[in-house]
Amino acid sequence: MTKRHEGNAIIVTGAAGAIGFATCEILAREGAQLLMVDIDGERLEKRAAQLRDAGHTAIAHVADCAEEDAVAGYAKEAITAFGRIDGFFNNAGIEGTLAPTHEYPIDEFDHVLRVNLRGMFLGLRFVIPHMVAAGKGAVVNTASIGSERGLAGACAYNAAKHGAVGLTRTAASEVAQKGVRVNCVMPGVIETPLLVGMLEQMFDSVEAGMEKLGQTATLNRVGQPREVGDVVSFLLSEEASYVNGAKWEIDGGALATIRNDI
Ligand SMILES: NC(=O)c1ccc[n+]([C@@H]2O[C@H](COP(=O)([O-])OP(=O)(O)OC[C@H]3O[C@@H](n4cnc5c(N)ncnc54)[C@H](O)[C@@H]3O)[C@@H](O)[C@H]2O)c1
Repeated sequence: MTKRHEGNAIIVTGAAGAIGFATCEILAREGAQLLMVDIDGERLEKRAAQLRDAGHTAIAHVADCAEEDAVAGYAKEAITAFGRIDGFFNNAGIEGTLAPTHEYPIDEFDHVLRVNLRGMFLGLRFVIPHMVAAGKGAVVNTASIGSERGLAGACAYNAAKHGAVGLTRTAASEVAQKGVRVNCVMPGVIETPLLVGMLEQMFDSVEAGMEKLGQTATLNRVGQPREVGDVVSFLLSEEASYVNGAKWEIDGGALATIRNDI
């Protein structure tokens, strides 16, 4: 049976992180050649080596996704290594400090917007031209359920993730007729270091926070990184050929209802 991404060249940012790496594992199993991008070189190299040891093609590329030259650099590296870019998971992100909007540290606001929104824009800015030139490609941006609702204490993260949907829709409308699709995923509460970082600031214990936030989902649990990766793999594939400018909720049904049974 032909694999879903056989021979495809795919860039994943935030590839050393939980959702990024879980997605890399899925894409690699589906036959993709990967350019894995992250700012954390040590963790990234370990993750890429793990995939290479399993027989996959995985190049580790250390870059700050918010730096123009670094983003141009990872797009160029993908072209040099693979000759094309078929898919792009534009996923790197940080949670930032938690504080009420009226007390939020201004330099932290700038920093979170820089990584989460400017970084996403730069990815689109430097990767999409290669896809347009080839007349084909698929992009998935990582938004959040915080793109749809307020997140008390996380104004910078929340603003950036609302912006992620805007970037997705606008880019999707610009390049659809050039053979390129752009969608986003909106993960809910997913068990990752990013989530643990937030829970440490919000709850007495991470376990209590996990249980409490799990209850916001109709499925009554937090999600796993793999459950995001599977949807990303689909959206990057030809099976999603008529999906464009969409936001896919991967939240156990949290946004679907107001739970009244807890
Ligand atoms: N975990 C959740 O519950 C959740 C929910 C909704 C959305 N998200 C989003 O999912 C994405 C992945 O997050 P995760 O949960 O896997 O967290 P994570 O912390 O495990 O992974 C994020 C990765 O991004 C990298 N990174 C951070 N800043 C960078 C930069 N400037 N340049 C390059 N790489 C950088 C980090 O080193 C890390 O490896 C993020 O965009 C996050 O906002 C997560």
